Amino acid sequence: MSEGFKDPGARHGRHLVVLSGAGISAESGLRTFRAEDGLWEEHRLEDIATPKAFRRDPEQVLRFYDDRRIQVRRARPNAAHKALAELEQAGFRVSVITQNIDDLHERAGSREVMHLHGEILKSRSSVDHGLRYPLPRGGIRLGDLCDKGSQLRPDVVWFGEAVPLYAIAEELAAEADLLLIVGTSLKVMPASNLYAAAPLDAPIILVDPDAHELAEPGVLPLAENAGQALPRLVRHWLYQGHLGLPDTL
Ligand code: APR
Repeated sequence: MSEGFKDPGARHGRHLVVLSGAGISAESGLRTFRAEDGLWEEHRLEDIATPKAFRRDPEQVLRFYDDRRIQVRRARPNAAHKALAELEQAGFRVSVITQNIDDLHERAGSREVMHLHGEILKSRSSVDHGLRYPLPRGGIRLGDLCDKGSQLRPDVVWFGEAVPLYAIAEELAAEADLLLIVGTSLKVMPASNLYAAAPLDAPIILVDPDAHELAEPGVLPLAENAGQALPRLVRHWLYQGHLGLPDTL
């Protein structure tokens, strides 16, 4: 354990709340956003991931998500996704709040998954974010309309848009016995602020190769890949029968 880090130790509960980001899917072959070879190095996010971009060049935006959908479908859950599902199957409550639009948590077997930034395998109305649909066969095309007559778009939250599920995510975080943040650069609000909603006596662990640079004071940094760290953490919690910080990490 990092020197000087105190385990609040008051909690021996079994409710794990996870905030995951692109890094948890990196070992499944999906690119992150802000690495040197990340998606936002190759594409300008202003051209792809904003309502303005969709108005200006919807075909370019739809193409980007078509390509990413192919990659998501090819990818398989990795050891990190599977470890979280295993903990849930063993009787812990595991609430996953993910910024990811892939479905790898669900395919690993996690049942309580909230997609803060939406889901690439669904579509929605462009005038009403509550009007969501399965993906049309072959993907979304110009002219595919919602029940209110507006163009369908990917069911993802773009920059500059509200995050409708955030208030519920905060309520969940407030119930955590331990908050596990994994594979996110914590650059995007409001997700980056979720840890502030966790109870003061709930430990917070951040698993990310860059954890030492990213962790706020009071957050335990674990500078490792998710596929290494999560199976080990989960083994420890299963052995103990409750959540808590291992003495040696
Ligand atoms: N295990 C754990 N973490 C990893 C791994 C790995 N194997 N590989 C990379 N990482 C870490 C990186 O060190 C980085 O801190 O994953 C993080 C990914 O950060 P970003 O690319 O910024 O992704 P994320 O934080 O999920 O982005 C948030 O930004 O553009 C948007 O909407 C998009 O949901 C996304 C949001």
